[in-house]
Amino acid sequence: MIETIEKHRQDFDSRIHSSSEPLKQLRIEFLGKKGCIQALMKDLRQASPEEKRQLGKLINDFKQYVQNLLEEREQELKKPEHSSKSESFDTTLPGRREIAGTLHPITQVMNEITKIFMGLGFQVEEGPEIETDYYNFEALNIPENHPARDMQDTFYVEGGAVLRTHTSPVQIHVMENCEPPLRIIAPGKVYRCDSDISHTPMFHQIEGLMVDKNISFSHLKGIMSIFLQEVFGKETKVRFRPSFFPFTCPSAEVDIQCVICGGTGCRVCSQTGWIEILGCGMVDPAVLKCVNYDSEKWTGFAFGLGIERISMLKYGINDIRLFFENDLRFLKQFRSVC
Ligand code: FA5
Ligand code: MG
Repeated sequence: MIETIEKHRQDFDSRIHSSSEPLKQLRIEFLGKKGCIQALMKDLRQASPEEKRQLGKLINDFKQYVQNLLEEREQELKKPEHSSKSESFDTTLPGRREIAGTLHPITQVMNEITKIFMGLGFQVEEGPEIETDYYNFEALNIPENHPARDMQDTFYVEGGAVLRTHTSPVQIHVMENCEPPLRIIAPGKVYRCDSDISHTPMFHQIEGLMVDKNISFSHLKGIMSIFLQEVFGKETKVRFRPSFFPFTCPSAEVDIQCVICGGTGCRVCSQTGWIEILGCGMVDPAVLKCVNYDSEKWTGFAFGLGIERISMLKYGINDIRLFFENDLRFLKQFRSVC
């Protein structure tokens, strides 16, 4: 009888995974009233009490085995990939669209501006966001207790370091490590204790620096004009306004006519009709001296752009804080840009 049980087991094993074998049929053949397990039970009656115990256990184990496997296989066949629905899959249906994330509008504008300057031969550099007093102020001709430090509300870090208030310290890092001539831009985050409709405590700047022989203010104006026309188009009204930065001389700030009010004055432009987007000027000889450049031989210009302000003007956004609220309804509008 042991051999018979083994034969049935082999027969069952070979058929249970066959896709052509209906499970119902197997269930009848093995577990049914006239099935082979029932027949084994009948035969068992003739066995001695000793054999009964041993063979009875074997038959019961086999029965349990058949039941378990049949159940497992039934569950397996119920899964969607085995259902008849998947067999009739409609290949003409359009595919499911992946909802992919997009770059933040500020990143998109940064990338766009970076590309423009790379096209003009500028190399991209980076600098630390936590700076020493020396790089953020002193090397840029802003000594301790100088009133120019009040121009930027600074976040101080324990131990005397600062969160950089502008990207201008990258100028110093680059000049300390490279010999002129050079032409670089440095995009990145900067921090100031500032918050209103056109100011945020963290914002982005792109620093620019070009040092070479015979560089003059007209080179600076030429490069700024090319860049502004590329970003805003030829029609946009731009003005250069004399200004002051301790690290450039002469210095200027560039304003763009406010796109929100068309120049008539509104909350966003503080009723002036213009929005300031960048500061610039000729590198002050005191800065060149600080990095051991011969200011008789080399001259240069520098600029610092505010990316959020440029993005506001580009897309007509009337509150800078919208960029950082992470409202998907706002962010989704920039999906197809760049
Ligand atoms: C500077 O930061 C100078 N480092 C720029 C510079 C570089 C001048 C090189 C000369 C040579 P300013 O503080 O004006 O300058 O800031 C530059 C630009 O950053 C501003 O024109 C404005 O567009 C933007 N900006 C300033 N503060 C904020 C703020 N809190 N939130 C958003 N944008 C700001
Ligand atoms: Mg300014």
